[in-house]
Amino acid sequence: MYTVGIITASDKGAVGEREDISGKLIKKVVEEFGYEVKRYIVLPDEQEQIAEELKYQADKLKLNLIFTTGGTGFSRRDVTPEATLSVIDRQAMGIAEAIRFYSLKITPRAMLSRAVSGIRKGTLIINLPGSPKAVEEAFVFILDSVEHGLEILTGDASECARK
Ligand code: MTE
Repeated sequence: MYTVGIITASDKGAVGEREDISGKLIKKVVEEFGYEVKRYIVLPDEQEQIAEELKYQADKLKLNLIFTTGGTGFSRRDVTPEATLSVIDRQAMGIAEAIRFYSLKITPRAMLSRAVSGIRKGTLIINLPGSPKAVEEAFVFILDSVEHGLEILTGDASECARK
């Protein structure tokens, strides 16, 4: 069973002014998918704080997968992609591209998400946009392939041959 961390980046969520529907939605979906959510936290849109939390979940908790939600847009406070880029060793651009590609069929505004994905040692980090609608739409599309990526990253699968 893969272990998961969830970070919601939201200034309002962090001070309790907005309910974190997206973070809870991610938790529900990944648990239904059979993964174990080990940590879930709401942080303000502060690059350093998000980067420290990503490192904690990857290096100390050694989680297989971290989802962030929020902070990927054009607001001056949106810094989740920058926090992610500052801690990953390798980008996994295809995942971020796939999310945008799929989402663009639903709304052209998907182009406004600057989300990135990447790998820090044994942990895959995936940015999702902040709205619950966006989370719901993107999730369905990526989870199966993400699982195959995790199999390769953790050494459970060594090749991509399809049965
Ligand atoms: N992706 C999907 N699938 N559905 C959406 O409704 N909204 C977009 C985009 N991605 C959206 C989406 C909008 S309007 C914005 S501004 C960006 O995500 C960034 O959102 P964020 O700043 O909350 O991360």
